[in-house]
Amino acid sequence: MSRVAYVNGRYLRHAEAQVHIEDRGYQFSDGVYEVILIKNGHMIDEEQHLKRLQKSLSSLEIVLPMKQTAMRHIMKEVIKRNKFQNGIIYIQITRGVAAREHSFPKYSNPTLVMTARRIVEKNYNEIESGVKVITIDDIRWKRCDIKSISLLPNVLGKQTARNQGAYEAWMVDAAGYVTEGTSTNAWIVSPDGRLITAELGRNILSGITRNTFIKIIHELNYKLEERQFSVEEAKNAREAFFTSSTSFLTPVTEIDGAVIGNGRAGSLSIELLKAYDNYMNQAY
Ligand code: PDD
Repeated sequence: MSRVAYVNGRYLRHAEAQVHIEDRGYQFSDGVYEVILIKNGHMIDEEQHLKRLQKSLSSLEIVLPMKQTAMRHIMKEVIKRNKFQNGIIYIQITRGVAAREHSFPKYSNPTLVMTARRIVEKNYNEIESGVKVITIDDIRWKRCDIKSISLLPNVLGKQTARNQGAYEAWMVDAAGYVTEGTSTNAWIVSPDGRLITAELGRNILSGITRNTFIKIIHELNYKLEERQFSVEEAKNAREAFFTSSTSFLTPVTEIDGAVIGNGRAGSLSIELLKAYDNYMNQAY
C-alpha cells in the first residue's frame, strides 16, 4: 500500500513529497512537531497534542497556517488515505522558506507537513522482558519543553544507546538527576511503591503519555511524586520504565548494567500498562 503525505495543501505520494531546500526547518531546525498515536483508526489524546503543538508554535512565534478545525480535518484525511488502523501521525510545522538569514524573515508562510506510518505493537511477552537503558550527559538547550525539531543531542544519545546494546538513553543533568529519555519520559518505582517522575519545567518535555499515566495513577490510588531522581536512586528502584506516544509504557530492566528488580518487568509497570491499554480502547 503506497503511503500518502500532506505538504502545504497537497496530498502526495510519500516517495514524491518534498519541501524547498531553503526551508528554515532544513537549514535551522526552525520548527516544531508532534507525534500522535493512532489506535484502531483513532487518534489518542489528539486534544492535548494539538494544545502542546500550539504552545510550541507560540514559543517560537510561528503562526499556525490554518484554523485548528482545518488542521484536524487534514489529520483525519492523512490517516484515512494511509489506510492503516494502528500507527502514528507525524506533524511538522516550520517557519517556512526564506533566504538564509538567522533572524526571522519578514514574510514567510509556515510549512506544514504530515506523514503517517503503521506501527506493530509489542505483545506482553516481549514487553515483560523489558529493555536496557544507559545514562548520558544531558547536553541539550534550556528549552526542552518546546517540542522543537532540533533533536541532534537526542539523536546522538539514542545512537550511543544502540551502540551499547541498549534501547534508550536517560539524560542526566549537571547535578546528577535524570531529566528524561532521548524520546521518552523516565519513571521509577521506589522500594516502597511510590511512582516517581521528574517534575515539569523547561528541562523536559511535558509528555502527553506522561500526563495520561499521571491520571491513571491517581485513579488507581497509587502514590506519585513529581520530583527529580538521581541515577543512583534509579539503579536501586524496584521498577523502572519510560513512556511516550510510540512506546506507551516500556519496562526498564537494566540501567548502566545494574539489574532493576528481578530483571523482568515489574508488576506495577504491567498493571499500569494494562490500564493504559484500556484507556486507549475507551478513548473514542
Ligand atoms: N517523542 N521526551 C522527549 C524528549 C520526547 O521526544 C518525547 C516524545 C517524550 C514523550 O512525549 P509524548 O508522551 O507526548 O509522546 C518525552 C516522540 C514520540 C518522538 O520524538 O518520536
